[in-house]
Amino acid sequence: MECKIFILNLLVLGIITLNHYGCAAEVSGCGQRPLVDAPGGSRIVGGQIAPEGAWPWQVSIQRGFFHTCGGSVLDSHWVVSAAHCFYDDPSPLNLQVLAGQQFLLNMGQHAQYRSVKKIVIHSDYSDLTFDNDIALLQLSKPLQFTNYVQPVCTFANQTEEEKLNLSMCFITGWGATAYEGPTEVNLREAEVQLILRETCNQLGWYYGTITPNMVCAGYEEGGIDTCQGDSGGPLQCYSEEQDRFYLLGLTSFGSECARPKKPGVYTRASMYTDWMHRKAKSSSPALVVHAIFIHITAVLTTLWMLTVA
Ligand SMILES: *[C@@H]1O[C@H](CO)[C@@H](O)[C@H](O)[C@H]1NC(C)=O
Ligand SMILES: *[C@@H]1O[C@H](CO)[C@@H](O)[C@H](O)[C@H]1NC(C)=O
Repeated sequence: MECKIFILNLLVLGIITLNHYGCAAEVSGCGQRPLVDAPGGSRIVGGQIAPEGAWPWQVSIQRGFFHTCGGSVLDSHWVVSAAHCFYDDPSPLNLQVLAGQQFLLNMGQHAQYRSVKKIVIHSDYSDLTFDNDIALLQLSKPLQFTNYVQPVCTFANQTEEEKLNLSMCFITGWGATAYEGPTEVNLREAEVQLILRETCNQLGWYYGTITPNMVCAGYEEGGIDTCQGDSGGPLQCYSEEQDRFYLLGLTSFGSECARPKKPGVYTRASMYTDWMHRKAKSSSPALVVHAIFIHITAVLTTLWMLTVA
């Protein structure tokens, strides 16, 4: 009997693994941009306007149709952004998510607007230290993936993050191009360098305030950075080996913008992979149905095995 339970467990695990495999196959369509080639190695000084379709997971999160923050498409129902964008006003009413659009003033035929059903702010988010600056938005209606709207890849864990050769990292957003300047109407992009946490935590830099949940990116000399209005948007890195982009960080904070030794600080996405899956799963009816299906399959398998034995 013990053996049977063991076999049964293996079977159930097998079914669950197959299910996970099914999800992974879905995820294999992530991080790719059908309309734009792999990035070149050249550094974009000061940033530039992004080509159409270059960052198909980037969304504009709007309040009353005014751009307030950036975000990234995780799957057709969920967008990830920064907690500080929603902390003062955690109501999803009056929020819209705009995907598939590079120019914010004139809606093109590829734009997809969605209202927001639910906001999940990380329960350990600190408004003082910006630790755990992450939030999920559940869309009222699924996005349709097109050449202009695609999900970004996420790391399974930190091991995977370290294993992939993340050579080219980019920041993107409609944020201001100068401190206290207006937000932009065209999506902009710039290549940045990842900065070691030890460096970023030095005296004269952020002096010990960068937690393991954060990543610094930019340049020691400043000049290229995210700024107001970019918050919540992606810091994405290209894996040559996988030929796709991964979400390394979420734009969180900085000391003004583009100042020397004050690079942009990003929420380290790989620290929240489990959190994202848990939160997105707990309110996804499709997955509940999936789970029930697994249970029914398991019960039927048991009955079948008992009959055979
Ligand atoms: C990290 O993820 C990879 C890929 O899914 C997996 O093979 C590995 O066992 C994981 N490592 C840890 C420490 O969880
Ligand atoms: C990662 O990059 C290093 C240095 O650029 C290179 O030597 C190594 O072969 C790369 N590894 C993979 C798996 O691409």
